[in-house]
Amino acid sequence: MVLPLPTFSVGRSLTGALNGVLDALGAERFQLEIEVSNRKIDRLYRMAKRDQWNLDDRRESFFPDRGDVDVNDWLGISDAQRLAAAHCFSSVYYGEQGAKVISAQLTTMMPSNEATKFLATQVMDEARHVEVFEGVLTFIDRVHPINPFLSALLTDIAATRHREEKLIGMNLMVEGLALSAFKATLKGLRELGISDRGWNAVGTPIEAIMRDESRHVGFGVVYLPELLEGASLRRKAEIRMRQLMWLGLLYGSVKYHQREQEELGVDHVALLLDLLDDHERRIEECGAAVLVSTDRMKRMIPALDRLVDRALRRRPAPAA
Ligand SMILES: [Fe+2]
Ligand SMILES: [Fe+2]
Repeated sequence: MVLPLPTFSVGRSLTGALNGVLDALGAERFQLEIEVSNRKIDRLYRMAKRDQWNLDDRRESFFPDRGDVDVNDWLGISDAQRLAAAHCFSSVYYGEQGAKVISAQLTTMMPSNEATKFLATQVMDEARHVEVFEGVLTFIDRVHPINPFLSALLTDIAATRHREEKLIGMNLMVEGLALSAFKATLKGLRELGISDRGWNAVGTPIEAIMRDESRHVGFGVVYLPELLEGASLRRKAEIRMRQLMWLGLLYGSVKYHQREQEELGVDHVALLLDLLDDHERRIEECGAAVLVSTDRMKRMIPALDRLVDRALRRRPAPAA
């Protein structure tokens, strides 16, 4: 015996469901806006397209076959300095991984056409940066595990639902840290007397990345005031609190590598102060009163130092 078909009207319920989807999502996800509302962002997008570069075109020149030459002799630095660089660059590598994921999230959260287009270029930039650090780290040593402070910082920036917080955390704080750390580490390696061919395998690729990172920081500075406009007092307080928490984690991540940084001639406090000075300039450019002033951040350094020391004492020393 064949069972009869159900008697309810499939057509009517499907139409209702489609109408519901259209009402809820249709206008939200895709817009007809092709007018550029922020010319600076549009200009950054065009610069990003113009300045794309491909590691495959430079791989042989960055990471040539060393043959029988010992890696330390090739780089012109000691074993301890090479391993210290590998630990510090491993953190940068995870920062690039985080930037790839978070800029991809932001691409779906922006209200304007030009901002989503710019962020699409940033996703591609970060994927290329991940690839470059895979190359640098494989050439000099290997990728070491992520430090717990950076892991918590990136996880929290990825987890927040607020686009302005993601932009502050990633494009201003983490990318700002990357720029300051790159500057200090490259200066340290120069002063240690890294060889020309060593510089070619480490310094030149990082310099190329720094040009991309400046553009990403620029996007945050230009776009944040628009996103923060009209934020309530409560919202501003929440953003400040989150920033302070992220600062603690950022500081922990810098201090975690104190020993390795010293090996490379980098002072972690000087690095942080440099980072805060750059951040201050960006806050002024943003004109965004919701951001925590660097003066307040600087006053927190001794307390942060003690906090991070305590957390580090509870954790096993990083493996060589
Ligand atoms: Fe990057
Ligand atoms: Fe970036």
